[in-house]
Amino acid sequence: MTDRIILAFESSADETSVAIIKNGNEILSLEIATQIKSHQRFGGIVPEVASRHHIEQITLLVEAALSDAQLTYDDLTAVAVTYGPGLVGALLIGITAAKTIAWAHNLPLVPVVHMAGHISAAQFVEPIQYPALALMVSGGHTEFVLMNSENDYVVVGDTRDDAVGESYDKVGRTMGLSYPAGKTIDQMAHQGESTYQLPRALMNDGKLDFSFSGLKSAVINLKHNADQRSETLDLTNLATSFQSAVLEILLTKTRLALEKYPVKMFIVAGGVAANQGLRDGLDQLSAEFEQIKLVKVPLELAGDNAAMIGAAGDIAYRHGKRAGWDLNAKPGLDF
Ligand code: KG4
Ligand code: ZN
Repeated sequence: MTDRIILAFESSADETSVAIIKNGNEILSLEIATQIKSHQRFGGIVPEVASRHHIEQITLLVEAALSDAQLTYDDLTAVAVTYGPGLVGALLIGITAAKTIAWAHNLPLVPVVHMAGHISAAQFVEPIQYPALALMVSGGHTEFVLMNSENDYVVVGDTRDDAVGESYDKVGRTMGLSYPAGKTIDQMAHQGESTYQLPRALMNDGKLDFSFSGLKSAVINLKHNADQRSETLDLTNLATSFQSAVLEILLTKTRLALEKYPVKMFIVAGGVAANQGLRDGLDQLSAEFEQIKLVKVPLELAGDNAAMIGAAGDIAYRHGKRAGWDLNAKPGLDF
C-alpha cells in the first residue's frame, strides 16, 4: 500500500499553518506562524491584519514544510484546507494557496471543517475508536460532537451564547490580561482560592447545551462595581473562582453526555483543551467511566495548527470528499 501524503493548510484565525501528514497520523513537518503579537494591542483579532499576515507567511511556510519533510510536490497525494468557520479574508488565503498548489500539481483538493480538524488531532495520540464523542472547546466553539462512524459529525450539545475560550479572553481583558488570556487565567487559577461567588447556568436542565454569557457578565460586573467603589479585587482568586465555575459546568455536562452516549472514546479538543484544570478534571471523571477511553489532544496540537487539518483531511480524502476549483470560504460553517 502506498503512503498517503497530505499537504494541509490552516488560516481561519490568527495562526498561519502548513503541515505535511503521512497516513493521517504522522507529522512529517509542521510550520506555525503566530500573529498574536500583532493583535495583542487591539485586545482581539483584527481581520484585515490577520489576512495580511497570512499572505506574507503562507508561501514561506509551504517551502519550509516541504524542505523539513525532505519532500517535493511530486510526493504529495492531496491538498487539504480549512474552508470554515473563521474569518472570511483569513480563510481565503489558505484556500487560494491550497487551490493553486492542487491545480498546478494535479492533486485532489480536500475541504476540511475547522472543528473536524481539532477533533482529528486525537489521531496523533491513537486511532479514534467509534462511536466517539468529542468535547470541542475553543475561542469560537463549545460543543459536544458525536461521531457514530468515521467522517460523520453530529453536534449534540452547543453553547447558546459565548464560547468558553471567548469567555476566558473577555474575562481576561476585564482583569487587564493580554489576549488571548486562557493560558494565563489557567496558570493563575492554580495559585488562588475560589472566593468569589459566580453563577453556573443550565446546570440542572438535563441537556447538553451550555451558556457562558452570565458567568462572563458576572465577572465584568464584579470588576465594574469594585472600580466604582475604588476597591481592589484579588485577581488570582478571581481567576480561580472563574475557572472553578467553568470546570464545574464543563465536567457536569461531560458526565451527562457520557451517560447519554456510552461511546468507546471520549476526545477533548480545541484551544481550551490545553487547560490543565480541564485535563485533570477529565482524568478524574474518566475513572467513573471505565469502558470509555479518554483521549486528550496533545498540548502542542490543542490550538490552531495545520497538522490537525491534515489528520481530518486524510479521513475526508479516504471517504472521497473533494472540492472543486470554486471552493469558497464559509465563515459560519457548521459541520
Ligand atoms: O482552538 P483555538 O486555538 O482557536 C479557535 O479555534 O478559537 O482556541 C483559542 C482559545 C482562546 O480563547 C484561548 O484563550 C483559549 O483557546 N485557550 C485556553 C487555554 N489555552 C488557550 N483557555 C483556557 N485555558 C488554557 N490553558
Ligand atoms: Zn480552532
